[in-house]
Amino acid sequence: MSKIRPQDLRSRKWFLNPENMEMTALYLERYLNYGLTREELQSGKPIIGIAQTGSDLSPCNRHHLELTKRVRDGIIAAGGVPMEVPVHPIQETGKRPTAMLDRNLAYLGLVEALYGYPLDGVVLNIGCDKTTPALLMAAATVNIPAIALSVGPMLNGWFEGERAGSGTVIWKARERLASGEINDEQFMEIAAASAPSVGYCNTMGTATTMNSLAEALGMQLPGAAAIPAPYRERGQISYETGKRIVDMVWEDLRPSDIMTREAFENAIAVNSALGGSTNAPIHLNAVARHLGVPLDNDDWQAHGHHIPLLVNLQPAGTYLGEDFHRAGGVPAVIGALLRAGLLPNPDAITANGQSMATNCGEKASVNDDVIRTVEAPLMQNAGFINLKGTLFDSAIMKTSVIDAAFRKAYLSNPDDPEAFEGRVVVFDGPEDYHHRIDDPAENIDASCILVMRGAGPKGYPGGAEVVNMRAPSYLLKQGIKALPCIGDGRQSGTSGSPSILNAAPEAADNGGLALLRNGDRLRIDLNKCTADILLSDEELTARRAALLADGGYKYPASQSPWQQYFRELVEPFDKGMTLRDAANYQDIARSRGTP
Ligand code: FES
Ligand code: MG
Repeated sequence: MSKIRPQDLRSRKWFLNPENMEMTALYLERYLNYGLTREELQSGKPIIGIAQTGSDLSPCNRHHLELTKRVRDGIIAAGGVPMEVPVHPIQETGKRPTAMLDRNLAYLGLVEALYGYPLDGVVLNIGCDKTTPALLMAAATVNIPAIALSVGPMLNGWFEGERAGSGTVIWKARERLASGEINDEQFMEIAAASAPSVGYCNTMGTATTMNSLAEALGMQLPGAAAIPAPYRERGQISYETGKRIVDMVWEDLRPSDIMTREAFENAIAVNSALGGSTNAPIHLNAVARHLGVPLDNDDWQAHGHHIPLLVNLQPAGTYLGEDFHRAGGVPAVIGALLRAGLLPNPDAITANGQSMATNCGEKASVNDDVIRTVEAPLMQNAGFINLKGTLFDSAIMKTSVIDAAFRKAYLSNPDDPEAFEGRVVVFDGPEDYHHRIDDPAENIDASCILVMRGAGPKGYPGGAEVVNMRAPSYLLKQGIKALPCIGDGRQSGTSGSPSILNAAPEAADNGGLALLRNGDRLRIDLNKCTADILLSDEELTARRAALLADGGYKYPASQSPWQQYFRELVEPFDKGMTLRDAANYQDIARSRGTP
């Protein structure tokens, strides 16, 4: 069965290299100094890294510090030696200017750790939004056997008898705060109620999305994504994950064997059924690039748009993470898609060595209101569309969050039911928006389109989650809750706004958004998937020439060395916001030898 023999283990190059006993002695002695024995390091046991994203700075993933004890037990039980690998912290809510800036930093750091140290396999401790893609990207580049372990969502939050979901309650409560319905104190109470335990966001935000997609890609054990952090099953799956990675080393089952083109197509379909975050295309496109798998935003529309929305979680729906797990979690969603012929590649191999069809073929929802059937979904065609035009080359829209009120206000022209036009109000970054949004002099009315620019990977390094702009307070008081929003930044996965996001090229790359002026008109056609500036080509050409003559679109100076390097090297959102040339380094543990 085993494809790898003890003498083939990568860690042998460090700990038992007959060609260089001097270096073996040097590598070995310091790993003995905390009590490891020569027997553990030299008798042919796989050395398993645990990429540790839990820390006091990273509360979403902090529970991994507990779970890692069970992972270690599993690794040891299966005959391996665990070694914890610290990962640069990436806390979504705590890191300024944005945690997204650190996804690539954590990636780079983990690539060096996995490549440069004596590791035969790795457990990826995923959870909070950017931790999942950062770790999957690093595993993709190094390509040693790897398995992901979700920390699990928080328990359901409750406030005044109703489910209070992470992030989502804040987006809702900020409207009540702006309209004077609640005070600051009540606002903070509502926020705290949504975070009742350890774990990551309990809504279908980027964390639940990415942890679920790590399972849909095949990189977690079946059912591992949705178990809430404090549940006993979370500790048990941690133990099983530790055991399994040791076998994966012997089987030589690597990320490139699991995360194939077919696996990404499956993940795109599952993302639509979940009502997943608009951050998912950025992250999965990035992971794919590091594996050399072609994947772009057209694939998200082609493989995702026609898939129905099955999972009834906030922000698009009603329920939260505990409900999702109890209803069957990711395997129940995949099972439903499989039986309907909507999972494109049932034979894709997963971390347990079995196919998606074998793992999930018999799995079904036990609560049809939380995980709907394909016959009675929450919505048809729930995936993303990829818009193009004079405004940008590519931008993502999650059509599943377009509600009846928005449809009535913007998509109800009988001659042109899927298109709307509007006058733009342009904001240059989040500070500009906060200063001007409530100023009556801006003359914002229900016919306006709010544009956020300077919020892309380069303009606001990492890209800001600020495109989901609320309407001015004077419109909120009139009951106008949502205006169409477009921008080169992102939107929190926990926000339900119908926004056009992740526009590339961004304003800071002098894309079409940089040419806009207040009062210009835009035309958006959701059927043709176009977004155009209603100006002549001559006018656009003249504006571009003037912009370039003026030195291009202006954005604030970098505040740290990493921000500067990031801006110099970063690629656009549609390419995954990866670093220039990084994708040239593939399968490096094998193709570039071992130092
Ligand atoms: Fe960390 Fe949502 S803020 S998971
Ligand atoms: Mg988020």
